[in-house]
Amino acid sequence: MGYLAVFLMVLLSSVSCATSTLVEKKFKECMLTKVSVNSESIEKVILTSSCSLYPQVLEALEQNPRWLNSSWKPLLILRPFQESEIQSTILCSKQLGLKVKVRSGGHDYEGLSYLSKAPFVMVDLININSIHINLSDETAWVQAGASLGELYYKISKTSKVHGFPAGICPSVGLGGHLSGGGFGTMLRKHGIAADHVVDAYLIDANGKIHDRKSMGEDVFWAIRGGSATSFGVIVAWKIKLVTVPPIVTGFNIQKTLHEGATKLIHKWQYIAHEFHEDLFIRVLAQNNGDNSKTFKATFNSLFLGGIDKLIPLMNESFPELGLQAKDCTEMSWIQSVLFFAGFNKEDPLELLLNRTTSYKSSFKAKCDFVKEPIPETGLEGAWKMLLEEDTIAMLIMEPYGGRMDEISESEIPFPHRKGNLYNMQYMVKWDVSSIEASKRHVQWMKMLYRYMTPFVSKSPRAAYFNYKDLDLGKNNHDNTSYSEASVWGNKYFKGNFKRLAQIKTKFDPHNFFRNEQSIPLLNSFP
Ligand SMILES: Cc1cc2nc3c(=O)[nH]c(=O)nc-3n(C[C@H](O)[C@H](O)[C@H](O)COP(=O)(O)OP(=O)(O)OC[C@H]3O[C@@H](n4cnc5c(N)ncnc54)[C@H](O)[C@@H]3O)c2cc1C
Ligand SMILES: *[C@@H]1O[C@H](CO)[C@@H](O)[C@H](O)[C@H]1NC(C)=O
Ligand SMILES: *[C@@H]1O[C@H](CO)[C@@H](O)[C@H](O)[C@H]1NC(C)=O
Ligand SMILES: *[C@@H]1O[C@H](CO)[C@@H](O)[C@H](O)[C@H]1NC(C)=O
Ligand SMILES: *[C@@H]1O[C@H](CO)[C@@H](O)[C@H](O)[C@H]1NC(C)=O
Ligand SMILES: *[C@@H]1O[C@H](CO)[C@@H](O)[C@H](O)[C@H]1NC(C)=O
Repeated sequence: MGYLAVFLMVLLSSVSCATSTLVEKKFKECMLTKVSVNSESIEKVILTSSCSLYPQVLEALEQNPRWLNSSWKPLLILRPFQESEIQSTILCSKQLGLKVKVRSGGHDYEGLSYLSKAPFVMVDLININSIHINLSDETAWVQAGASLGELYYKISKTSKVHGFPAGICPSVGLGGHLSGGGFGTMLRKHGIAADHVVDAYLIDANGKIHDRKSMGEDVFWAIRGGSATSFGVIVAWKIKLVTVPPIVTGFNIQKTLHEGATKLIHKWQYIAHEFHEDLFIRVLAQNNGDNSKTFKATFNSLFLGGIDKLIPLMNESFPELGLQAKDCTEMSWIQSVLFFAGFNKEDPLELLLNRTTSYKSSFKAKCDFVKEPIPETGLEGAWKMLLEEDTIAMLIMEPYGGRMDEISESEIPFPHRKGNLYNMQYMVKWDVSSIEASKRHVQWMKMLYRYMTPFVSKSPRAAYFNYKDLDLGKNNHDNTSYSEASVWGNKYFKGNFKRLAQIKTKFDPHNFFRNEQSIPLLNSFP
């Protein structure tokens, strides 16, 4: 064979995707019957499992590679460029009896955007990611496939005094994040990301596109933190920006046990939710990720103002920490985004656009809400458990209070407001993906969660929907009855769960959009 022929074959195999299975053939055929989908565009949009790009695309945004079971992968991946291709995908999937999963940022804790035990197609919104900012009314239309980093970057290129109060990790997608709540360094000042959604485009199970007006206020209420994925596919959100000062201050103060970490954290619990709302101090308590039995706590803070205001404020509110000007760094708000993402403030802002993260690894997480300070002995018991792990394990404690206390529990489905001192997330991460490692670390996490029971919220033991945890349900399947689902539904949504199920029943009566923890139909049977 000549070189040219070999070259051509390599070239062809890298771009072309064989349509080998019957389902793949039928799906393509169906798509071609839809308006606006032609045979040229379809090749760009559909990836069959034999495409050379398929594994790469599947894994690129898969933030938690904890699952090794290849039989749970999508039959097809679709990467639409326009809304009409999403509409057609929904209609064709329905016609062929396939489920649809949507992936925006791929940061789902249980992999629900890219895994399923039932045959499904995955819609990857990586190309649906435009952002349009309108400074005259301080809003932005952001497409669901954009990341938090892309949004923050775009805002900073448009204005030095605007920001958005969403999560800390730049590679998180807006599609999932806003559908579950979304909080970060500005939650004490501005509440959560979903509090700032003013309109949205949503495609329903019939392929129809709605805006706020046509979906109605009930559905618009439900998708802001109440699992939008149970109602349809979000194409874009309209969000209200917030103003930020030109200069903010960040600091990281590390303490070991010998330096009094436990006493400081114990004290922090009484005061962090009552600080001035411009001041956010979270605590990361972690082991060293090995067998060295060392523990450190980091007080990681953002203050919406300059050092000159911060120092007297800290002297008044938390003198025990001994904060000095030399511990603090003044920067712009967008630099503080880099700072919290683990970069240096001088690093190029373009780092925020990188969708491939360096900290991707298998993990298991759970969370709690804390309403009463935990006694020192209780904290010490948790540190002891962290030191029993031979891989990175940590507690992330994020203070509430401020604006969070002023928003009612039923304003949007995210109910965790007044009365919570802080949210506590437990996380364990490991590098070597094996079934044995997964089992061991997940088991450790369950022990820690059991240990924390007396110290955290009760009836319900509340949880945050964006820190999804399938252990909260008894039988995990995707056709859950209302009463089965109430077990986790009340934890995530408290008194809002029933209303979510009522809205779901009306808007998606055939339960087309479903997964192991989607909002159930009200009158379904076990
Ligand atoms: C490293 C890391 C850091 C994090 N940091 C924070 C943080 O600081 N604050 C915080 O609040 N949370 C944080 N999270 C949690 C994060 O908010 C949730 O995991 C969120 O749901 C991720 O959204 P996504 O679009 O990236 O995920 P995906 O996996 O793409 O989606 C998550 C869920 O939403 C559905 N979905 C996605 N897109 C759409 C859409 N367009 N329409 C309908 N449904 C859709 C998916 O099907 C899936 O069920 C973090 C997660 C990770 C892994
Ligand atoms: C993988 O999935 C198949 C089919 O659902 C199941 O039979 C098998 O037990 C799974 N394997 C693991 C390791 O979970
Ligand atoms: C920006 O917002 C203003 C005020 O609401 C509105 O008049 C204008 O049309 C918007 N611009 C765009 C491009 O949407
Ligand atoms: C801290 O507060 C004490 C008493 O409240 C005061 O004497 C001292 O000057 C303050 N220090 C700073 C740096 O503000
Ligand atoms: C994005 O980050 C990853 C992980 O740190 C790195 O390997 C990659 O080179 C980065 N990509 C770009 C374009 O900077
Ligand atoms: C869901 O469960 C109900 C009750 O068991 C059943 O009638 C229905 O057919 C199920 N739907 C699917 C799609 O499995």
